[in-house]
Formats: sequence, C-alpha cells, structure tokens
Amino acid sequence: MIRLLKILGFFGLFFTVILSCKKNEIEIPPFPDMTDTTAGYQCKTTPYSLIQPTYFPPYPTPILNIEMTEERIALGRKLFYETKLSGDNTMSCASCHNQNYAFTDNKRALSIGIDGKSGTKNSMALFNLAYSPAFFWDGRSSTLEKQVLVPVIDPIEMHETWKNAIVKLKGEEVYNRMFYEAFCTADYDSTHAAKAITQFELTLVSSNSIFDKAVDRTGNDRNIGPQFGAGEEQISRGFRIFNGEVSKNGGGGDCFHCHSTDNMLFTNNDFMNNGLDDNPSEGFFVVTRNETNRGQFKVPTLRNVEHTGPYMHDGRFETLEEVVEFYNSGIRKNSINIEPIMVSGDTANGSGSGIADGLNLTTQEKADLVAFLKALSDSDFLNNKDFSDPN
Ligand code: HEC
Ligand code: HEC
Repeated sequence: MIRLLKILGFFGLFFTVILSCKKNEIEIPPFPDMTDTTAGYQCKTTPYSLIQPTYFPPYPTPILNIEMTEERIALGRKLFYETKLSGDNTMSCASCHNQNYAFTDNKRALSIGIDGKSGTKNSMALFNLAYSPAFFWDGRSSTLEKQVLVPVIDPIEMHETWKNAIVKLKGEEVYNRMFYEAFCTADYDSTHAAKAITQFELTLVSSNSIFDKAVDRTGNDRNIGPQFGAGEEQISRGFRIFNGEVSKNGGGGDCFHCHSTDNMLFTNNDFMNNGLDDNPSEGFFVVTRNETNRGQFKVPTLRNVEHTGPYMHDGRFETLEEVVEFYNSGIRKNSINIEPIMVSGDTANGSGSGIADGLNLTTQEKADLVAFLKALSDSDFLNNKDFSDPN
C-alpha cells in the first residue's frame, strides 16, 4: 500500500512538473517532498495593510486589491537582496538600489551590470511607487510586477535567466519554506518571485520629511500652507520659490507644476520634457510611438532628492546646485516637445513668461531653493530597519 502511494505520489509530482512547464515555460526541477506536509512547511496568510500617509492621495484601487501578507513581503525583501538572482551570483536589486541613497545606485550616474557593462540610464529611487502609472524613465513597464522581471534577464544588468534563478533558489531550504509560507505552493516560479518583490517595494513609503512635519502643523488646512518651525526660515523661503509662479519680477521657480505639492508626492506622475537638450532622446516615444511624446521622461519625485544624485535620466548633473542652475539659466527653449508651460508660463494666472526664459534667481534664492529640496529628506525612511538587508 505504502509503495502504491509512493508511486502515485511520484506520478502526481511528475504531472505537476509537466503542467507547470507548459504554463510558465519554466522547467521546475523535481524537488524533495514539498507537497508532503511532513516537511513541516505551513501556508500562512498574515494580512498586511499598507501605511496610508495622512496627506497622501488614497491608494489606487488596483493597489488596494493586492492581497498583501507579511510572508510575501518578507520573501520579497529577501529576494530584493538576493545575489543569486544574477548570472554570477554577485548582484542583487539592492546593488543598484541602495537604501542609503533612497534606493538609487551608489552615487553613480549610470548603473553597471555584472559584466562590467554600463547602461544608459540613471538608477531610479524606489518609494511611494503605488502611485506610479508606469515604470522606468520612459514608462516602458506598465506594472511593478512586470518591471521586476526585467533587470534579472537584462544582459547589461543581472544577466541571468529566471529559469536558472529559480533553480538556484530551489536548492535552498529557506526559500522553499518561505515560498511555501507565502504562496502555499512548492511549485513556485518567477511569477511568485515578482509578486513578492512587488509587495516589498510597495511597503517602501517615504512621508516623514521636514516638509511633512511643516504640513502636519497646519492641522490639514491646506489654505494656510506649510508651517515651518524655528530655524527653518531658509527652507520656508525656498518653498515659496518652489511653489511660486514665474514672474517678471523674479522670485518664482514654477517647480510645483510638475513636481506637484498639492498631492504631496512631488511628481505629477506624468511624462514630460523639461528642456534638457535641443534634440532629446526618445523617452516616452518608445511606448507610444507618437512623435508628440519624443523627449518626454517620467517626472521624478523630489522626495529624498538630496540622496539620489547624480540627477536626470542620464545622471548628467552631479549636484542639486547644478540642477537649480540648469532651471535658472540653462533650459533649451527650442527642445522638441518642451512642456508648453515652461515656455509660456501660466497664462491663466497672467504670469506671462515661462521658466525657459530664465528665472533670474539671486545667489541667495538659489541657495534657498536647494535648502528646501534638502528638507524633503526623510531619515526615518533611509534608516528604516524593515527595509534593510535581512540576510
Ligand atoms: C545594474 C543595476 C540595476 C539592478 C541590478 C536593478 N536595477 Fe532597477 N533600475 C536600474 C536603472 C538604471 C533603472 C532605470 C532604467 C530605465 O529607465 O531604463 C531602474 C529602474 C527601476 C524601477 C523603476 C522605478 C520607477 O519609478 O519607474 C524599479 C521599480 C526597479 N528598478 C526595481 C528593481 C528591482 C526589483 C530589481 C531586482 C530584481 C532591480 N531594479 C535591479 C538599475 C538597476
Ligand atoms: C515642465 C515640468 C517640470 C518643471 C516645471 C520642473 N521640472 Fe524638474 N524635472 C522634470 C522632469 C521631466 C525631470 C526628469 C527629466 C529627465 O531626466 O529627462 C525633472 C528632473 C528634476 C530633478 C532631478 C531628479 C532626479 O531624481 O534625477 C530635479 C532635482 C528637479 N527636476 C528639480 C526641479 C526644480 C527645483 C524645479 C523648479 C525650478 C523643476 N524641477 C521644475 C520636470 C519638471
């Protein structure tokens, strides 16, 4: 009888393997007794509710519909720091997304993959991703789950196949247990890994900067504006520049039109051309194939921007001072598809001229603007132990 059960069990496993191969095109190696509960693995579904910062917009419905669990997040965090996901076992997601730099690459303009080859883009900060409608500078990934699959197989990044990566993980007891706990299956693949990493990424919420504290003091009355504290006068002046319309008399920076303050996210989550080059590279055109989108890039959030340099999609500016000088005097007015408001200003408000005509900020005003940008740093986020390497 026992023998018969063993034989049946063997065929059961065999067919699961075949079926899953077909479904996911990943060859799942037969693995010891994972379906056997005597292995001691337990399916767990401890619910996790995403922190909703007070002044942020409500999370979009698709995000709220994700069944987040502690077990999936713990697995995702471990995978985020797992070098076995790369071809030579040296590189993890965290290699280019370091918590100390708000999950950007270690002060590098362009990221370098396992083969020492350099990419063409600056690594992006990872937090408050729930609000993003699309991922990458050019928006070519429509969901986080799809995005996760890309760096592992990218030949100039982690240069591995998911098939191999999963085989490596299956050689480890700890992963077999964690995948089982998180997804109640022994038959895991890249889809489960992507789901887990996505859930970890969604927990990366940054909402506790000096600016947030100043907004908090208003008791949620948006009409009175952020109340900066003692010693924060320069930051307060910088905020007025950031949030002010361009005016012929100077003093307004017009930054808020794209790096939105009303939603508290410091991005309008749109794709735009801020006039870096006369002939910008493709950008969002890659996705839409529509000429009007050529040169548009994802408007990055400016939260934690003090730590995310070098700046822009190609890391061309080293410092925030250089970025501010670019907006002050270096915008290429004739850049193809430059955002119209940069050229004409907010005509409804009668400001008349746009940021591309030059801001004429004084040395003091430029320093004030930089001071404000630095007030968007969130040290609680940068030091949050829940986001660090669990290994
Ligand atoms: C070799 C460096 C490198 C590695 C390794 C890497 N990334 Fe990235 N990441 C980048 C770069 C560079 C970009 C921007 C690329 C672009 O826009 O084309 C990026 C963009 C992203 C984005 C888009 C963020 C946004 O706001 O649109 C996410 C999410 C992300 N990476 C997550 C991950 C995850 C998860 C892993 C591991 C599976 C990973 N990355 C591994 C360098 C890397
Ligand atoms: C018309 C929209 C628009 C306006 C107005 C605007 N920006 Fe930007 N900003 C962008 C876009 C788009 C990018 C990314 C461009 C790229 O990399 O190709 C960007 C990038 C940045 C970056 C780099 C962030 C990073 O992570 O690399 C900083 C800093 C920045 N802007 C600050 C400002 C400041 C300060 C102002 C006001 C003086 C301002 N921006 C006005 C659209 C805008």
